[in-house]
Amino acid sequence: MAKAPTLFTCTACGASHQKWAGRCDACGAWNTIQEDTPLSAAPASKSLGSVRGKTLPLSDLASTDPEPPRAASGIDEFDRVLGGGLVPASAILVGGDPGIGKSTLLLQATAAFARRGLSCVYISGEEASAQVRMRAQRLGLADAPVKLATETNLRDILTTLDAEKPDLAIIDSIQTMWADQVDSAPGSVTQVRAAAHELTAFAKRRGSAVMLVGHVTKEGQIAGPRVVEHMVDTVLYFEGERGHQFRILRAVKNRFGPADEIGVFEMTGQGLAEVRNPSALFLSDRGEPAPGTAVFAGIEGTRPVLTEIQALVAPSPLGTPRRTVVGLDAGRLSTTLAVLEARCGIPFAGLDVFLNVAGGLRVTEPAADLAVAAALLSAREDVALAPNCVLFGEISLSGALRPVGQTENRLKEAQKLGFSTAIAPANSKLGAPTGMSVRQIADLAAFVGETFGA
Ligand code: TYD
Ligand code: MG
Repeated sequence: MAKAPTLFTCTACGASHQKWAGRCDACGAWNTIQEDTPLSAAPASKSLGSVRGKTLPLSDLASTDPEPPRAASGIDEFDRVLGGGLVPASAILVGGDPGIGKSTLLLQATAAFARRGLSCVYISGEEASAQVRMRAQRLGLADAPVKLATETNLRDILTTLDAEKPDLAIIDSIQTMWADQVDSAPGSVTQVRAAAHELTAFAKRRGSAVMLVGHVTKEGQIAGPRVVEHMVDTVLYFEGERGHQFRILRAVKNRFGPADEIGVFEMTGQGLAEVRNPSALFLSDRGEPAPGTAVFAGIEGTRPVLTEIQALVAPSPLGTPRRTVVGLDAGRLSTTLAVLEARCGIPFAGLDVFLNVAGGLRVTEPAADLAVAAALLSAREDVALAPNCVLFGEISLSGALRPVGQTENRLKEAQKLGFSTAIAPANSKLGAPTGMSVRQIADLAAFVGETFGA
């Protein structure tokens, strides 16, 4: 039999390469490329065309419930990110930096599911049972009917799970699991893929939901969650800034619900607490409007979230001025600066620009463009924007403002939080009256003229 070709995989981003290199072309990380021995194919069935592979008319499936039955944990922020609850037979990957709170979140969620009658097994490959129990005690979950196991051998885990047939199994973490038929160290790309493959197959075979914890890794020895993203139904990332207590659970892929949905939590002494009104949280330490700040009425998943965009513009001592961005896309900042210069005649050459989203949220919507431009202009001119004003709108390269979706939701949320005016692109579909006074503006130059009298 021909030898299977050797492939090389980046442990950080999961990209495949034909040959080894010191640096991954796809993500730019150094020393992350690892040899990836493909799993040997399953033994071929004796003859092609045997009855092994059966098909089923699609219409036969119509009699079953079109919406999969879901189990809710009662932790709303968690259920919403899953798309409304846990779907049986689904494989869910929960990625995040080490120490961000993945084990805490999943222990709380598992206990909540167990208290609602689901049979749950929590398999820890990192902590001893006593440690998990201690944590559960501290979180007030020690009485929840969750079964614990500490195990890293995949064969033993599958035996346990086959015997228990749980509704939900948690594997903490996928990097500590090892399959003895695979000849490489735990944590390698091959091992992590093999473990994810076996556990996903188990989920489909038995109808159990399986949640895999994956640490995001910086060094190349251990494969990160990116290498198994394509195998699972749902990919969630648990993110947050070290200095902040806020944690955001974000769905980046979901076969059973909207992607881009977020759940907001706060890390407290008693574990993770739900934050039901994130806008109030992200705007909480806002005093009188200062130059360089603008409030963006955004949408995260299905929910409106208001955030403060902060900018600082200062003369640069450097030949190439600094452009530092936290929580927004650096490429969009460059575009916005270029449009301000080319279409409105406002140069930023020779000026350092720092841009930040308050509270540690990451904003990816193009609708944030107008608020970003407003914060930049306000910082540059040293003029505060009107108080009680929110902004949203996408800026096109011509300088025109483009309407964005869900205008009514954005306005309603702003009104609820005590804002009274909104600046929006012309031709926005306003929907039902919300009590907000909306100024509709056609392009960025008009906005600059009206707001800063330039
Ligand atoms: P953990 O869930 O172990 O992180 P991960 O599984 O992602 O590696 O979380 C560890 C951090 O959470 C640790 O720094 C302590 C903090 N923490 C609290 O602040 N309060 C708590 O109640 C718990 C359980 C943890
Ligand atoms: Mg952990």
